[in-house]
Amino acid sequence: MQHLSEVLKILDGALKANASMATSYAGLLADKLESDGEKQQARMIRERLARAPMAVASAQGAGHGHMLGQMPTDNDSRLNTVDYSQPTLETSEVLLPDAIQNRLLEFIQCVEHHDALQRAGAAMPNRVLIYGPPGTGKTQTARWIAARLKLPLLTVRCDTLVSSLLGQTSRNLRRVFDYAQQLPCVLFLDEFDALAGARGNERDIGELQRVVIALLQNMDALPDSTVLVASTNHEQLLDPAIDRRFPFHIPMPIPDTALREGLWRKLLGSYAPDELDWKELASLSEGATGATIEHVSLDAKRSAVLAGQARAQKLVLLRRLGLTLALAKGERLTTTEQEIRWLRAWAQSHFTFRALAALYDLPLRQVQNLLNEDKGSRDGIQEKAEPGKKKRQPK
Ligand SMILES: Nc1ncnc2c1ncn2[C@@H]1O[C@H](COP(=O)(O)OP(=O)(O)OP(=O)(O)O)[C@@H](O)[C@H]1O
Ligand SMILES: [Mg+2]
Repeated sequence: MQHLSEVLKILDGALKANASMATSYAGLLADKLESDGEKQQARMIRERLARAPMAVASAQGAGHGHMLGQMPTDNDSRLNTVDYSQPTLETSEVLLPDAIQNRLLEFIQCVEHHDALQRAGAAMPNRVLIYGPPGTGKTQTARWIAARLKLPLLTVRCDTLVSSLLGQTSRNLRRVFDYAQQLPCVLFLDEFDALAGARGNERDIGELQRVVIALLQNMDALPDSTVLVASTNHEQLLDPAIDRRFPFHIPMPIPDTALREGLWRKLLGSYAPDELDWKELASLSEGATGATIEHVSLDAKRSAVLAGQARAQKLVLLRRLGLTLALAKGERLTTTEQEIRWLRAWAQSHFTFRALAALYDLPLRQVQNLLNEDKGSRDGIQEKAEPGKKKRQPK
């Protein structure tokens, strides 16, 4: 069983009626599951933690020692507004194009040599904004930055910081920034656009304006040496005044072919199917994000483990990939027939009649009939659409 030690600690906490121990290890377990790609399970744990009664919620912080004794909480829900974690380099590795990797290393260097830079009058605030489409590794990069700097990560989920009580959001923000200054840490504002949406935005109802102003004030009051990382899927929604306060902007791209190959190699590891053509796999997965590749790899690994095999099967892996890409393109494949047609059209050389019959445990003739029917009706449509062309053909 994976993560048994966390589960045992949670059990210990429960048996000793030590809510703080149980909840802090449950938070750690959620982090680990998330980094394994099990987002859904991580979310289920966090949702339960979020429902913890007030006494537990305040004890949650105490579990981390005196430093975290007064973790900031939302007055309305009485829940912590930050998550504490200590990412390691092993669990936060992120593959990025060289130019972006170099930019990140430059940021790390600026943080590490902040004092020297300040003495030379050349320091910049230790702040970086990471932006890009979902699943491209923004959160993972924030974890990597903390691991690389050997600092704990204080994650603020900005959407949960926005309180239902008017005026409370700015107070929450203030507490978070005050708190982050009490311990060496990387303060990570995830889903930052929830807070930093532009003033004058049409959804703006006054509260958002106040939040942006409070954010600006808090950022200005923060010492330049405090490491602040913010991430967003919607860079264009950020208020320009906030945008300007980040000297480093790091774009997270949808991976190109070379990066996809690296991601497949890393994520499949020793479970990679025999005789896999990596280049072909990378090219077939055009448009896939790191999150998609991770998801498909984990699925294929799981199938291998459940089938008692040491390696994933190529066709099982390709089927998962094909169906995931179909979903991402908005295809609704609700029947086996639709799946078979899609896979055949997507990667014909792999999904032969025979392979499809074996994969779906169907008689070969049934698969042949299904796909030949399609071919027949496609030819028929073509004939109807281009009757003249057909007549001219014979010579
Ligand atoms: N470039 C990458 N290198 C390594 N792993 C990656 C990369 N991109 C994504 N992943 C993996 O995919 C999963 C999702 O990544 P992450 O949560 O960092 O994405 P995100 O950009 O923060 O997405 P969202 O906008 O949905 O929050 C993580 O488990 C991460 O390990
Ligand atoms: Mg994220």
